[in-house]
Amino acid sequence: MSRRNKITVIGAGNVGATTAHWAASRHLGDVVLVDIKPGMPQGKALDLAESGPPMGFDLNLSGTQDYADTAGSDVVVITAGVPRRKDPKTGEYTSRDELIETNRKIVGAVTKGVVEHSPDAVLIAVANPLDAMCHVTLHESGFPKQRVIGMAGVLDTSRYKTFIAMELGVSVEDIHGMVLGGHGDTMVPLPRHTSVAGIPLTELLPKDKIDAIIQRTRKGGGEIVGLLGYSGYYAPAASACVMVESVVRDRKRVLPCACLCEGEYGYDGLYLGVPAVIGKGGVEKIIEMELNDEEKAMLDISANAVRDVVKLLPYTSAAS
Ligand code: NAI
Ligand code: 2OP
Repeated sequence: MSRRNKITVIGAGNVGATTAHWAASRHLGDVVLVDIKPGMPQGKALDLAESGPPMGFDLNLSGTQDYADTAGSDVVVITAGVPRRKDPKTGEYTSRDELIETNRKIVGAVTKGVVEHSPDAVLIAVANPLDAMCHVTLHESGFPKQRVIGMAGVLDTSRYKTFIAMELGVSVEDIHGMVLGGHGDTMVPLPRHTSVAGIPLTELLPKDKIDAIIQRTRKGGGEIVGLLGYSGYYAPAASACVMVESVVRDRKRVLPCACLCEGEYGYDGLYLGVPAVIGKGGVEKIIEMELNDEEKAMLDISANAVRDVVKLLPYTSAAS
């Protein structure tokens, strides 16, 4: 009997539970949800399992506090952590970087729990600040860099494509493009490399409209926090799910992911959003695309912003 893919999601909160939801609805494999809150991942997994009959999936969906239940996972998505929240008094919302102190401890601990039981898994980091949490996951797992990937570029690109589709009144499916760099306000959307069914975006929209879309994309996470009072989860979870799918189905999708650059794009020892071929082994290749001086300068600014956060980690030597 062939074995189903096993997908573990650590943190069964908004992003984690919704990742399990998207993964089940796409029949990607059995899903184990892990959370520290007793009963909560069990309850969500059972509720999701009970949606199998109407939705037509036959999968094992379970919840646990015990890492032994995650043994032999093919992919592990790490969402455990504290999300951004709006302060009801000041109206200010937490920056991703403010989360570093809390989340590095959570992500470090859960990574250790995961790797003990799934030494061959591909790990997808989601908790913020994303690029720094990739360094934590790499460090604590001791895994090769190919099997530690961060989810951010797929989400940022998804927001970028959504806003373009809204502006042009066309299908999101026909929009191709990528957002590179760190997961923060300095992220780098690439309009010169964006097309609508092959037609360059720059032929379809004037510069001021494109600039407005870029600004909205950069602030996309904050826009949702501003509306909800906490961070979004449908699009983040869908984005994580696309990465899971590319791994478990060995699709070799070209996706903008946080990968450890070791010389690529001129960066060394730094996680940054770059185009990567994602397959069974995780990051199978980083694609180095031609960037003009302006684009490279923007990527440098983004890399510097990531480096400033990564430097706050206790064990990393300053990446260059
Ligand atoms: P949430 O608060 O809804 O869920 C987090 C869950 O983690 C909670 O259920 C909590 O009990 C659990 N948790 C905390 N410590 C744990 C531990 N040691 N072991 C197991 N579970 C633990 O938060 P949400 O909205 O799901 O966000 C999760 C993280 O993802 C946050 O850091 C958020 O900033 C980040 N995020 C990242 C995105 C990206 O693009 N990379 C997009 C959206 C969110
Ligand atoms: C987002 O971009 C908060 O990183 C999270 O929605």
